[in-house]
Amino acid sequence: MQKRNHDGWATRFGLIMAMAGNAVGLGNFLRFPGKAAAFGGAFMIPYFLVLILVGIPLLWMEWTIGRFGGRYNHGSTPGMFHRMWSHPMSKYLGIFGILLPAMVGVYYIYIESWSLGYAWQTATGRYWGQSSYDSMSEVFTSYLGISGKFLSFNPQAYFFFLITFLINVVVFSRGIARGIELVARYCVPMLMVLGIVLAIRVLTLPPQEGRSISDGLAQVWHVSDWRVLLKSDVWIAAAGQIFFTLSVGLGMIHTYASYLSQENDITLNGLSASAMNEFAEVILGGTIAIPAAVLFFGVTQTQDIAAGGTFSLGFFALPVIFQQMPGGQFFGTLWFFLLFLAGLTSSMAMFTPLLLFLEDELQVYRKKAVNIMGFVIFLLMQPVILFMHHGLLDELDYWMGEFCLVLFAAIETILFSWIFGAVRGWEELHQGAELKVPRIFFYIIKYITPTFMVILLGWWVYDSLWDRLFMTGVDPASKPYLWLARIMIMAVATFLVWGVRHAWKTHHKFFDADEIEGESI
Ligand code: ALA
Repeated sequence: MQKRNHDGWATRFGLIMAMAGNAVGLGNFLRFPGKAAAFGGAFMIPYFLVLILVGIPLLWMEWTIGRFGGRYNHGSTPGMFHRMWSHPMSKYLGIFGILLPAMVGVYYIYIESWSLGYAWQTATGRYWGQSSYDSMSEVFTSYLGISGKFLSFNPQAYFFFLITFLINVVVFSRGIARGIELVARYCVPMLMVLGIVLAIRVLTLPPQEGRSISDGLAQVWHVSDWRVLLKSDVWIAAAGQIFFTLSVGLGMIHTYASYLSQENDITLNGLSASAMNEFAEVILGGTIAIPAAVLFFGVTQTQDIAAGGTFSLGFFALPVIFQQMPGGQFFGTLWFFLLFLAGLTSSMAMFTPLLLFLEDELQVYRKKAVNIMGFVIFLLMQPVILFMHHGLLDELDYWMGEFCLVLFAAIETILFSWIFGAVRGWEELHQGAELKVPRIFFYIIKYITPTFMVILLGWWVYDSLWDRLFMTGVDPASKPYLWLARIMIMAVATFLVWGVRHAWKTHHKFFDADEIEGESI
């Protein structure tokens, strides 16, 4: 496999595990069950349609763009886009592929640390006895230190945050083969085993108050109300979920793929990694939280719980259930440890684009790049933790993990299919391919995926952007904190704009215009 900066994937197994780990994350086990339970079985129809028509094509595009850019020693999207399109704007558009994963990582690592903290709390039985949903919700509030005071702070939560943060820094400072690949080789199979054990445990739970586990499975797989499909919300939620779970539109896949060479297959490897992600999401994620919640709480209450937020099923409802089942402490610990591993294998991918941007384009040495980046990220994480109760995390998630993710996915689809050219893209995709992608996907990539993305983006802008932008209905006391989130995003974006300008002005490799592959529109 291709070596850059004396680094690269050591084995094919490691590559697939790392790519699968990149995708399998908190989104699979927390976000997916929340959405599926809230909308009911009808959710799965747009979910699978978007997966096939948009998710998988985008995934192949990102593997292709990444490998293509890696050929010119680019590990992040500014350089990759620059090679695909000679327009001066292309490299600035590529900034999204560094900004989004890094800013998602800023809050994602904090959530990951809650899983570790809860694994410990469950193993030691700290919250045992808090056996109602409401009391578990209070346990959560107190774990985060949300007390009505100016700052949200709990030393215990902060301690687990520090551990999680350090683990992440150690992993990405060791690079691809000795860091990310090594962790993925062990953690991804381990989290799959944990997921299977938990799914079997849930499937073998005895009936409760006349409800059986199949009633819970029906909440995911049985369409009880087809009219749900007429609502735009369900389509937007399904599309958002597909992007987030596959880690597309984030710039992370590009970076991993940049270490591949032309001889390496990307069609089959890409599909294998996404198949593992879908297994983890739909089969494991869909079998654990929702069926267990329906069994213990009933359908209506489960829907209310799911509508209460991303964390309510996993952090409030499941701990109540664990307290009522035999061996619950053991299975509860496995559940939170599973979340932690899933989070870790994703978060370690989130800062790699920024790290490689510093190394490849700004010529900063690895050690120095890790130190600078670690320090800045640590600083950015503090407001997320301390102002948690003012919605700073949600604001970052909306802009980085939802809206701009769709925007960036739309940009790269148009770049790939219409500017770089679907024909060239298709040829690139098939270099070294072990799987010939059915021809129909050529037309999907050329017409359907970009069109879908443009419509989705337009709808998103029309439906929610203005309210979000002008903070309609937001408590005035929270507005300064939401502005702080936006200032943090703008500060990192400004640095990246400067970085791209600086790199292209000072670094000779970008002047090799003959190496630029772009076509004009
Ligand atoms: N794909 C990652 C997740 O699902 C980001 O959490």
